[in-house]
Amino acid sequence: MRKKAPYQPPSIPSSEITSESVWLKRRHFMSVAAGGLIAGAPLGRALAASGSLNYAAASNASPGGFYTGEKQTPFDDVTRYNNFYEFGTGKDDPASYAHEMSIDPWSLQVDGEVEKPGTLNLEDIQSGFDLEERVYRLRCVEAWSMVVPWVGYSLADLLKRFQPTSKAKYVQFYTLQDRKQMRGQRSFTSTIDWPYVEGLRMDEAMNPLTFMATGLYGKDIPNQNGAPIRLVVPWKYGFKSIKSIVRIRLTERRPKTTWEMLAPQEYGFYANVNPQVDHPRWSQKTERRLPSSLFSPNRIDTQMFNGYQEQVGHLYAGMDLKRFY
Ligand code: MTE
Repeated sequence: MRKKAPYQPPSIPSSEITSESVWLKRRHFMSVAAGGLIAGAPLGRALAASGSLNYAAASNASPGGFYTGEKQTPFDDVTRYNNFYEFGTGKDDPASYAHEMSIDPWSLQVDGEVEKPGTLNLEDIQSGFDLEERVYRLRCVEAWSMVVPWVGYSLADLLKRFQPTSKAKYVQFYTLQDRKQMRGQRSFTSTIDWPYVEGLRMDEAMNPLTFMATGLYGKDIPNQNGAPIRLVVPWKYGFKSIKSIVRIRLTERRPKTTWEMLAPQEYGFYANVNPQVDHPRWSQKTERRLPSSLFSPNRIDTQMFNGYQEQVGHLYAGMDLKRFY
């Protein structure tokens, strides 16, 4: 594996560091200025309460890879065809049962290798950061994919608030663990060692594409998609995009991740989308773009790094991606 330079926290001039009380109260919504604005887009409770969120129609121009002009997967498919094993293993289980989880109150703890450990409450999560829209491809390791207009902010923006130390080399994420609210965690057949955990290398976490979604289609994110906050890492298989996060811990050592613990020969820590490295039980060369049906299977070629090679290829220069899958 290539030698990694230690992570250096960005140097922020003290004039730009906002005191915690000020930034927690801040309500500033960025309008993404390229292209025409979508008039009358439905706004979620928190979004609507906090001011208007203008967002641009996805354009074919893709500055930084933040937008794709591909056809967006309809809201109904994005919110009814889900993987969220805390609510069952069926694709429609999350839509049926995720309402059993309450997201208010919520607390997201940020700790480990940070100068200023702290906790964000629901209001901080939903309106403490500048919101923007990103239209990303989401490619599941099971070989289906979607195009989703997310609303949220970069993970880098969130992490900077807590000031990562120079020892921070990885970021670990934890989903809520609550057997009362999450029927999948009560299931005798579940083989997952709860809570669901995920991790990223620090340079992956700080990449501008790495996103914390609090909304989709201009509304608060539905529970089944990971309310009130979930990770979105568009160049990695969907299982890295952990939902309903309650803790983010910065670490010196590489954290364990749920699917890697469950089946290390099938699911690696990196999990970069790669059409050249098949899953041991199926090909990764193509994918089924939702919506799809028996009559219209909608199969398309899978792209290296899910089409984000330009933005993230350098992170893996010199690495054997067959070995570090
Ligand atoms: N996060 C948690 N906590 N539990 C899960 O089961 N499934 C993952 C990921 N995040 C999962 C999770 C998988 S396999 C995928 S493909 C995506 O969520 C699916 O996201 P979506 O349902 O919003 O499309």
